[in-house]
Amino acid sequence: MLHLQLSINTCVKLVIFQGCDGSVLLDDTITLQGEKSATPNVDSLKGFEIIDSIKNKVESDCPGVVSCADILAIAARDSTVLVGGPDWEMYLGRKDSKTASYELANSNLPVPSEGILPIITKFLYQGLSVTDMVALSGSHTIGVARCQNYRARIYDQSTASESYLNDLRASCPAAGGDDDTVAPMDNVTPNLFDNSYYQILLRGEGLLNSDQEMYSSFLGVQTKQLVLQYAHDPLAFFHQFAQSMVAMGNITNAVDGGEVRRSCRFVNT
Ligand code: HEM
Repeated sequence: MLHLQLSINTCVKLVIFQGCDGSVLLDDTITLQGEKSATPNVDSLKGFEIIDSIKNKVESDCPGVVSCADILAIAARDSTVLVGGPDWEMYLGRKDSKTASYELANSNLPVPSEGILPIITKFLYQGLSVTDMVALSGSHTIGVARCQNYRARIYDQSTASESYLNDLRASCPAAGGDDDTVAPMDNVTPNLFDNSYYQILLRGEGLLNSDQEMYSSFLGVQTKQLVLQYAHDPLAFFHQFAQSMVAMGNITNAVDGGEVRRSCRFVNT
């Protein structure tokens, strides 16, 4: 479960702005400001020590061959399977970046308060389609969001039922509460990779505004159709999710040629 949350979330945040190149795994150093402290990532991405431990095992058996970017992509795939989701074949041989971009992490990652058009634009900018966006967002079928990311929605914008809202409001007060209190994004089967996330959107109970917009925004004609399709057809969702993960994982970083890092946290010296 932790693997999936780290890997999928980390990998999407990674590819959205630079490429599936392990840049998000880099720690800050005197010469490099990493992406972990960028606003959409700070206090959100976690589990880096799991990637460290996989990398240590792989390096001790087979030094200098398997990149951190490949480890992240495989971990995302395998952990999806472990929580009940689809499996897929994928290309390996990604290189790790020698750089990271704090600025691009801040500007290019989608945020939950954004409207549907800016989010679609960010996916298109990376070569991902509207279909990819809706299918990949289905990974919100597992995992949690922090109060600060859904507070505005449960007080101002929500279409959800009062009882659902009251539960959320109890743990995420309008003022004075803990910003880091979490709630599952799929309140039906939070630990299972299934299509209930889309069914929740049909009821108006998406936790994040950006999730609900895909179904409820009058600008989201195509996204609404896709949400309806995936809510009614879990196999169609699984099939598209697998394809879109391959597409996302193939976004490469042409900037510096890359390397196979010895430690996922630092570029090689
Ligand atoms: C469409 C644009 C997206 C937006 C605006 C968005 C936003 C968010 C936010 C705000 C959270 C909660 C973070 C927190 O409160 O700490 C979250 C969690 C998560 N996101 Fe997304 N996301 C998007 C797309 C994606 C995609 C494409 C994937 C993967 C393919 C993904 C995977 C996840 C996962 C697994 C979590 C749970 C993390 C955890 O439990 O710690 N998201 N997302």
